[in-house]
Amino acid sequence: MPIVTSVEMFQKAYAGGYAIGAFNVNNMEIIQGITEAAAEVSAPLILQVSAGARKYAKHVYLMKLIEAAEADTGLPICVHLDHGENFEICKSCIDGGFTSVMIDGSKHSFEDNVRITREVVDYAHDHGVVVEGELGRLAGIEDDVNVSDEDSSYTRPDEVEEFVARTGVDSLAIAIGTSHGAYKFKPGQKPQLRFDILEEVGKRLPGFPIVLHGASSVLPKYVDIINSHGGQMPDAIGIPEDMLRQAARMAVCKINIDSDLRLGMTAGVRQALTAAPEVFDPRAYLKEGRAYVKEIVKNKIVNVLGSDGKA
Ligand code: G3H
Ligand code: 13P
Ligand code: ZN
Repeated sequence: MPIVTSVEMFQKAYAGGYAIGAFNVNNMEIIQGITEAAAEVSAPLILQVSAGARKYAKHVYLMKLIEAAEADTGLPICVHLDHGENFEICKSCIDGGFTSVMIDGSKHSFEDNVRITREVVDYAHDHGVVVEGELGRLAGIEDDVNVSDEDSSYTRPDEVEEFVARTGVDSLAIAIGTSHGAYKFKPGQKPQLRFDILEEVGKRLPGFPIVLHGASSVLPKYVDIINSHGGQMPDAIGIPEDMLRQAARMAVCKINIDSDLRLGMTAGVRQALTAAPEVFDPRAYLKEGRAYVKEIVKNKIVNVLGSDGKA
């Protein structure tokens, strides 16, 4: 199975009431952990690359590693640019073999967002690539941009039909209370999502795939391992798994996970180095990080996304 777009994945996910996991990748061990987990439970995958990941590892390394993972597992894999800031980065990823790009115009006015997004859609569709747009603004940290709670805003359902019609996007990310990073809610705050907004968006765009960013659950198991092996993470609260399951049964077809993988990788490395402080072979500790990434992704696919057996 070659590298694919998300078109068929989303059609099946929408009809089947499940979601495709979109996992952020930065190096070989993360790619292997994710794809080995997905292969064991036969799940289609979106592997997504941020501008920061491209800067860290270089586009060509990540592309080749993902191609290697596809050759190794035979899984349908879509390669996606996460949070493309402008036309240039989207074009560079399209020209460099990605099958999907996100143009994130959410910080702009509605009209500017439409214009920037339309330009990317025209180029992408000419090259057989699909596009994710965004309406509404998530709080949290992505790359060097830190959006405060006050600057975040929920998606307005009355804007979505016009945005999709005028831009021609293939999927739409919306803001319903999730946020980027490990600290999504204040200590003591009860996690809440605006399912009423998701429901209204679903009614206005029947059959259309919706994307949920900032969807890590920040499981205490991995924070505890980090903190009991020299880490100093403050109390962190993520999105409860039952809420993600509910979103996947609704119009959400793509669920973005990065922070959970970072926690797994860090937990494994810290644990390995603490258990054997004399070790200086990177394979000895990176493989423990990879094992936790695999465990996290497998649990996510089977217990949250419902995409197992759908490859
Ligand atoms: O949404 C943002 C992702 O978590 C990517 O994070 O830009 O630090 O690679 P990054
Ligand atoms: P998390 O920080 O919740 O993992 O969100 C990742 C994300 O939305 C990537 O685009
Ligand atoms: Zn995101």
